[in-house]
Amino acid sequence: MQTLEIGALSYFCERMSRYTLVSLIALLIHFSACNYDNEEELYPTSSCETVDMSYASDITNILQNYSCLSCHSSVSNEGSVTLEGYDNLKTWVDNGALLKSMKHDGASPMPKNQAKMNQCDIDKIEAWITDGAPNN
Ligand code: HEC
Repeated sequence: MQTLEIGALSYFCERMSRYTLVSLIALLIHFSACNYDNEEELYPTSSCETVDMSYASDITNILQNYSCLSCHSSVSNEGSVTLEGYDNLKTWVDNGALLKSMKHDGASPMPKNQAKMNQCDIDKIEAWITDGAPNN
């Protein structure tokens, strides 16, 4: 009876220490991954330049990268929305729909049927709008 108990106990301890080791390694990997994530979260602005955005280079490039301009050119004009050309774009800046659609907040979510835009790109367009959406 006693031998059995000791046997069970040592088996239990052996299993436990193996689990402890595995858990420790898992914990270590987990924490090193977390530390890496935190670093990126701590300095989100370091890689996103939003100062002095230019309509001609920055904004047009972003709209092109997300195919906004292929659906909203003056020819395709999907949803009766034209974003090609400063004056056309400015209409959608001024009525607020451009930012709302990109933020998925209160207007048809854009780019249509695609994932939400990268936050940095949204921030750049928002910064340009905050600057008064200059034709620069
Ligand atoms: C595949 C075609 C397509 C792409 C790509 C696309 N749109 Fe649209 N967009 C539409 C259609 C169609 C509508 C009309 C509303 C609807 O059907 O959701 C629309 C509507 C809009 C509106 C008006 C929203 C409202 O609620 O009044 C804005 C602003 C807009 N799009 C901006 C953008 C921007 C900015 C991008 C790029 C980030 C983009 N769209 C990409 C097809 C597209």
